[in-house]
Amino acid sequence: MSERLEDIAAAMVATGKGLLAADESTATIGKRFDTIGLASTETSRRDYREMLFRSDEAMKACISGVILYEETLFQKAADGTPFVDIIRAAGAVPGIKVDTGAKPMAKFPGETITEGLDGLAGRLKTYYDAGARFAKWRGVISVSDILPSFGAIKANAQALARYAALCQEAGIVPIVEPEVLMDGAPGNHSIDRSEEVTEETLRIVFEELSDARVSLEGMILKPSMVIDGKKARQASVAEVAERTLKVLKRTVPAAVPGIAFLSGGQSTEEATAHLSAMKAGSDLPWGMTFSYGRALQTEALTAWSGKPENVAAGQRAFTHRAKMCSLAATGGWKKEFEQAA
Ligand code: 13P
Repeated sequence: MSERLEDIAAAMVATGKGLLAADESTATIGKRFDTIGLASTETSRRDYREMLFRSDEAMKACISGVILYEETLFQKAADGTPFVDIIRAAGAVPGIKVDTGAKPMAKFPGETITEGLDGLAGRLKTYYDAGARFAKWRGVISVSDILPSFGAIKANAQALARYAALCQEAGIVPIVEPEVLMDGAPGNHSIDRSEEVTEETLRIVFEELSDARVSLEGMILKPSMVIDGKKARQASVAEVAERTLKVLKRTVPAAVPGIAFLSGGQSTEEATAHLSAMKAGSDLPWGMTFSYGRALQTEALTAWSGKPENVAAGQRAFTHRAKMCSLAATGGWKKEFEQAA
């Protein structure tokens, strides 16, 4: 596999493939495990992720890369095989979440700034040596009638740009993820407000990337979709697709090789339908696919439920969802395929 940033980025958005975001922090995976009544331990986290990464059919056909949390990058499967080797053997690229989380931003009530820049150059070297060839950093933008503030967007965009520059110097493709929240408090904003905030955020992010001398050809953008707040859901699939594409065309330079969406709390089927609608019939300047966490894993987690005898059921659920997302990434998903499983 080529080590050029452009080639790695192209492989990450290869036709019909997308990214599995399995980089939940220890706190977040704990919350996910709570939904199935499972205690989060190093072993249960390993078993869960091993179930996903050993879903051979899904991994080989549908998954171009896996975003890992630091613990998992260095973790081994039950038989001692490093996870990085399992992922590579499936033809996927291992990646790593490198931010250390969104923290309350001083003087900006209700807003956060994502941390993790201190010492990042050194950590990136360690991650590269462990096999990571791309990284992820998530900036979080909260929406209300008065939020986000310009100051919070700017600070998060600057951090994303500094991170991206450090990644490229380390030979690692940065996934630049400015997430405009659809849930958060109060979560009742309209799709108009989502469109306005997403457009402003992406404009500022690309200004900062340019100021930081980030090579657009060697990065992937991971945006949220333009969608109404979780408590105000109204927009149709076609409207979400149309508005999201409008904003992306206005703000994302054609030099960016790929856009890989987060799911952000959409149901698995919604996230699949929206991506498929965007890809169907559109002539887009960038590659476009999924980088879903919850929208790839929810059904697999429930089917597995932490029981060794359910590994095959969990893998079947993951494989179905990955196939649906893969179809969506070519614009070819249809609702009736969901029942055909
Ligand atoms: P979701 O698809 O669950 O939003 O997760 C993607 C992700 O990586 C969030 O940072």
